[in-house]
Amino acid sequence: MGLLDIKGLKVSAGSHEILKGIDFSIEEGRTTVVFGPNGSGKSTLMGAILGLPGFNITAGSIIFKGRDITALPVHERSRMGIGLAFQYPPAVKGVRLSTLLDNIKNGDEDLHTYSEMLNMDQYLDRDINLGFSGGERKRSEILQLMVQKPDLLLLDEPESGVDIENISIISRALNLILEKDKPLRKRKRSAIIITHTGYILDYMRADTACVIVGGYILGCGSPSEILAEIREKGYSQCMECYRDMVRRDTGAGQET
Ligand SMILES: Nc1ncnc2c1ncn2[C@@H]1O[C@H](COP(=O)(O)OP(=O)(O)OP(=O)(O)O)[C@@H](O)[C@H]1O
Ligand SMILES: [Mg+2]
Repeated sequence: MGLLDIKGLKVSAGSHEILKGIDFSIEEGRTTVVFGPNGSGKSTLMGAILGLPGFNITAGSIIFKGRDITALPVHERSRMGIGLAFQYPPAVKGVRLSTLLDNIKNGDEDLHTYSEMLNMDQYLDRDINLGFSGGERKRSEILQLMVQKPDLLLLDEPESGVDIENISIISRALNLILEKDKPLRKRKRSAIIITHTGYILDYMRADTACVIVGGYILGCGSPSEILAEIREKGYSQCMECYRDMVRRDTGAGQET
């Protein structure tokens, strides 16, 4: 059994079905990247794993550490060891970043060890993400995960809007928390990383890549091969598979 096992997951928002039957799993110590065009359901998958409000799970199950968490509230999932770095990190007026970090801290390390590593020292006394630039917000999210130390890190486009130097800084921090310096069998934490550009793969190794289109996972395989294919051909090949999925589910095009 994996650290996370998702079976037949269907998720709707309002009357709109976004995820149409996702099967996905990740084992301890592994990193999976997720590719997919805009609006394909990547962030929705992250939100459903963490249990964010606004998403309605209409079918399927999410098993984490052997426990069915499909109906658990977000704070319990977080306590069990799931952490999310948002695609669009919200600002929280009236709460200092250092206060949040003190409250989610998991371990004895000095906060400054991490904030220094992420060039975030000067932001600790400011309200969370308030007035932060796009790249500062992303570093703030990674800092929160470093301090929280979840067993499953959900990273929604961690490098988007981040300059090249800071992508390297963020990746160094992620490599540290994911214990990439240790052999695979000794690593405890896992990560799911959504990326459009794959730039982050220049700085950190992923074990698997999966492609989501139209609410389906169309396939998983080697990150470098899949990225090369997307760079060369876009998602055109995937659209064929997507149409096959839709035909399978709706029976469209089949003779009766
Ligand atoms: N509350 C909602 N009501 C209706 N539709 C929604 C809602 N939330 C998301 N959607 C739709 O679901 C689809 C998937 O959204 P999602 O944010 O998961 O996409 P994504 O793959 O993360 O895209 P991007 O690469 O642009 O971040 C989109 O078409 C979006 O408009
Ligand atoms: Mg998204």
